[in-house]
Amino acid sequence: MAIWNLGSINADMVYAVPHLPVAGETLAATGFQQFLGGKGANMSVAASRAAAHVHHIGAVGPEGKWAVDRLMEYGVDTRHISQGDTPTGHAIIAVDPQGENQIILFPGANRAIGVDQLGQALTQANSGDILVLQNETNLQAEAAGMGRDMGLHVCYAAAPFQAEAVQAVLPHLDFLILNELEATQLHAATGKSADSLGVRDVIVTMGAKGARHFDGQAGAVHDIPALPVTPVDTTGAGDTFTGYVLAGMDRGMPIRQAMGLAAKASALMVTRKGTADVIPDLKEVQDADF
Ligand code: RIB
Repeated sequence: MAIWNLGSINADMVYAVPHLPVAGETLAATGFQQFLGGKGANMSVAASRAAAHVHHIGAVGPEGKWAVDRLMEYGVDTRHISQGDTPTGHAIIAVDPQGENQIILFPGANRAIGVDQLGQALTQANSGDILVLQNETNLQAEAAGMGRDMGLHVCYAAAPFQAEAVQAVLPHLDFLILNELEATQLHAATGKSADSLGVRDVIVTMGAKGARHFDGQAGAVHDIPALPVTPVDTTGAGDTFTGYVLAGMDRGMPIRQAMGLAAKASALMVTRKGTADVIPDLKEVQDADF
């Protein structure tokens, strides 16, 4: 089986700051590093490092070859990433000493993916493969509909959260992952709680409290605890969790077992500074002693 990821690709410009800036403030950074990032790219790298076969569907600009090369180095199939005139997406990320962040996104090429490009990629997917989407590209609803028609397992990570974007893909979803606040916002927008969305598997991540799985088939709820670590940078930890869960599901692992592995991967991730480039591989995760 394989994972098909319609996903963003960003250059992450990460600034260490003494505190997150407030309106009108000019703040000197104490450090700067650049990483490969984007919620989509982070998920592709996480799933690939967790031993899944991942095809990334996305777009970069004229200067974006480095990002495609980097994804390839991490084992991601990049044949369905196009290069066009719109500049590569980037993110300006401030990280404070507690590891909390603030992110400004420039979507760029991530919102210029062609419908033909998407269709051509998905014709190569097989029934039972996983299709994953996030809210940093265009064509999410189109992809979800195509995926459903083709018998793919359609998954959505509702980040960055927008209730309308989730609602547009909801009828096609087999799997939805979102955080506690987003689950509350979705409830306010739809009147439905996580267990009544009509989606087979829903995971709500709850930060230091762990994650909760709502099994729509069995009508059961399971909690997975978070692991106790001191964070230095929480950026990309959620994407790492999602990528590891998807890779586990792709291997036929029970979802709770995949969530356990994903919790370890994201715990390791928050102890590292950076995004896609520092996502731990399966061996590191298995060997990690918490
Ligand atoms: O979730 C973290 C990601 O959000 C970063 O890599 C950044 O590019 C933004 O997409």
